[in-house]
Parts: sequence; structure tokens; C-alpha cells
Amino acid sequence: DVIDVRALTNQGVFTYDPGFMSTAACESKITFIDGDKGILMHRGYPIEQLAEKSDYLETCYALLYGELPTAEQKAEFTGLVKNHTMVHEQMKSFLNGFRRDAHPMAVMCGMVGALSAFYHDSLDNNNPQHREISAIRLIAKMPTMAAMCYKYSAGQPIMYPRNDLSYAENFLHMMFNTPCEEKKINPILAKAMDRIFILHADHEQNASTSTVRLTGSTGANPFACIAAGIAALWGPAHGGANEAVLTMLDEIGDVSNIEKFIAKAKDKNDPFKLMGFGHRVYKNFDPRAKVMKQTCDEVLSELGINDPKLELAMKLEEIARNDPYFKERNLYPNVDFYSGIILKAIGIPTSMFTVIFALARTAGWIAQWKEMYAEGYKIGRPRQIYTGYTQRDYLPLDQRK
Ligand code: ACO
Repeated sequence: DVIDVRALTNQGVFTYDPGFMSTAACESKITFIDGDKGILMHRGYPIEQLAEKSDYLETCYALLYGELPTAEQKAEFTGLVKNHTMVHEQMKSFLNGFRRDAHPMAVMCGMVGALSAFYHDSLDNNNPQHREISAIRLIAKMPTMAAMCYKYSAGQPIMYPRNDLSYAENFLHMMFNTPCEEKKINPILAKAMDRIFILHADHEQNASTSTVRLTGSTGANPFACIAAGIAALWGPAHGGANEAVLTMLDEIGDVSNIEKFIAKAKDKNDPFKLMGFGHRVYKNFDPRAKVMKQTCDEVLSELGINDPKLELAMKLEEIARNDPYFKERNLYPNVDFYSGIILKAIGIPTSMFTVIFALARTAGWIAQWKEMYAEGYKIGRPRQIYTGYTQRDYLPLDQRK
């Protein structure tokens, strides 16, 4: 008397789309991507124009509110963000509980999740003002928390934010200055940092943003949702790729080994992939990678860097670009390939790369979360095709083989 459980579930008709290759889960007015043509636009503005002419906070404003700000709105928004750059002093005690050798992404998951314990005065998701203040707090505090993670791992005193500096300058100040020496931030490096922030600010329904929306669809608070997004971003197939690029370059070691690693990447029996190459959506080129390459050239020439690892990266890019395997599959260097190189040149440790991605993507995550609330939503609940056992009877322990 075995019952077919599939008959019991009344599943109806639904699509089976592993990896969500062709299933939309929401409507959104924030970001448009045409992967075949290599187009990325936020609120209709091409990413190339934003990267060249805008700055990160202005881009955040457009993501959040739909329009670029007027001068007055920009000043007000910047002032508001600056008002919230500090984190609660007790967050330092929380940070002190982590091992100093913990991965900064592990610490960030905890720190951002913990914001809901420190800022529980604004957790009513149904209150638009609460949603607003949470968005501002997140954008304002992410650089502070990211730099705190770095300083903690380096065993250095934490630097407080400086509100007379721009968003990117302030981040570099908190990362690299010390109470003993406060150097002026190099404007070319600040500009490059700001560009990295803009280029990572949003990318429609990628894995981490979908995670933020799915978590948000249960009514979870925004800090918990962003912590979930950070966890999803950490994976090497997503935001972890910028760190993985540098780890891979370490493994390759020398230009003479490139061919061997390219052969590994092409071998279908080997799980190794060339990190920083390929993209789920961009099957032509990643428009962000183009801008990033230009910034990469600017930074390297400003710093006059002569690093064998950077030379190795450039050689790898050249060889892979001309290899038929990569050409046929439209596998181009993605944004993470170049951002990793720039961050290394600026002096940011590899383990912080994905944290910087998370910092920048917070604007997109929270804009998407706000949009979801403003437009109305249903709890996210994917279906499945059950392929397990049909019903069977429980066996007592002594009868099991
Ligand atoms: N190295 C070698 N081969 C690759 C690579 C790579 N980096 N990327 C894809 N391929 C191959 C696949 O093996 C597959 O080959 P096949 O058709 O012979 O089976 C083909 O190219 C198509 O690849 P898919 O796996 O179908 O592409 P998908 O869209 O599922 O994956 C992904 C995209 C995850 C980004 C993949 O290209 C990859 O793992 N890249 C390396 C990691 C990376 O750089 N991630 C960052 C993404 S960008 C971001 O998150 C900001």
C-alpha cells in the first residue's frame, strides 16, 4: 500500500528553472541590464556616464529615489549620511569578541546583523520613515564597519570617521590613517575607490540581491536582510571572485605557468575555473569591466607600480582573451578581475576585497528592499520537483540494515 506522495501534494503546474535562468521574481524600476549588448543602466543612466561624471552618494540617491538629486537634495542627502557615519560605541565590544584572524566577511555578517540589536528604534518595516532611516544608517555605517574590521585584524586602533572628507576619502582615511599619522588622501586613489563603489552599487537580481529580497519578503528587518545579502555575496562564484582572482594569481605564481592553468580551466574533469572570467548575464562583455580597466591603468600609472603579480594578471588576461575556448564561450574578464588588481595596488589586503564589494552593493540591496516594500510583495517561496522516496514505513532501529 505505497502511496505516491506526488499525488498527495496537488502541485499544479509550475516552471522548473534551476538557477533561475529565465524566471523573473519581481518587477523593478531600478537597474536595467542587457547582457548580450553589454548595457547596464541605473534609473536609465548608463553606468559609463555615472562612473565618469557622478559620485557614489549621488548614485546611491538615484538608486534610492529614482532621480539624480538637485544640488540642494544632494547637499541634504550627503549631510544626512554624514550624520550617521559613527557606529554605536558598544559595537567595538562586539567586534572585540571575534578572533583577530577571522575572515573580515565573517565579521561583517555578524556586525551588520548586529545593527538590528543596536538600532532597534527603527525596525517597523511598515513605517516608511523607519525604512528611510535604516537605509541611510546602512549606507553611512558600512565604510566605518568595514574599516573597523580591517583595523581590528591588523591590531591597530580604530579610526573614527571624518565628515569633512568625501565618502571614498573617509573610507581610505579610516583604513590607512592612524592616530599617529593622518596623511592626506591621494585624490586619484579616492576617485578610483569611488568608481569601484559606483560600479558595484547595484546589479539587479543577482544572487545576493535576490537573497535580500527573499529575506525581506518574510518581514525580516533591513539589517538582517543585508547581513543575509553579505553572506550570499561571500561565495567565490559571486562577490568572492575578486579575492579569488588574487588567490589564483598566487597559485599561478609565474608567467611561465599561465598555459598550465588555462589548460586546467578548460579541462571539464577539473573543477578549476579562471576566476574573474565569465558572467551569468554578460555574454558579450561586462560594461563595468571596461571602466574598471581604465581606472586600473590610471591607478597603476599614478602609483608607478611594478608588481610582478599585476604583470602576471595582465599577461593572463591577454592569453585568455585570445584563446578559442574563452572566445567561443564569450568568457571575458568581469568587473572583479580588474577591481581585485586596483584594490591590491591601493594596498587593500585581499581578504578585504569582498567586504568592499559588500559596502558598495549595500546601496543597491537597500534600494531593492525599499522598492519591494513600497510596491507590495508576497513571501518568496520557490517550489520544487520532489525526486525522493515515495512513502515508506518507519523501521525500528534493530531492523535497519
Ligand atoms: N573558466 C573556465 N570556464 C568557464 C568559466 C571560467 N571562469 N566560466 C564559465 N566557463 C565555461 C563553463 O564551464 C561552460 O562550459 P561548457 O559550455 O563547455 O560546459 C561555459 O563556460 C558556460 O558557463 P556557465 O557555467 O554555463 O556560466 P554561468 O552563467 O552558469 O556561470 C559564472 C557564470 C558563475 C560567473 C562563471 O563564469 C564563473 O564561475 N566564473 C568564475 C567566477 C567569477 O569570476 N565570478 C564573478 C562573477 S561577477 C560578479 O559576481 C560581480
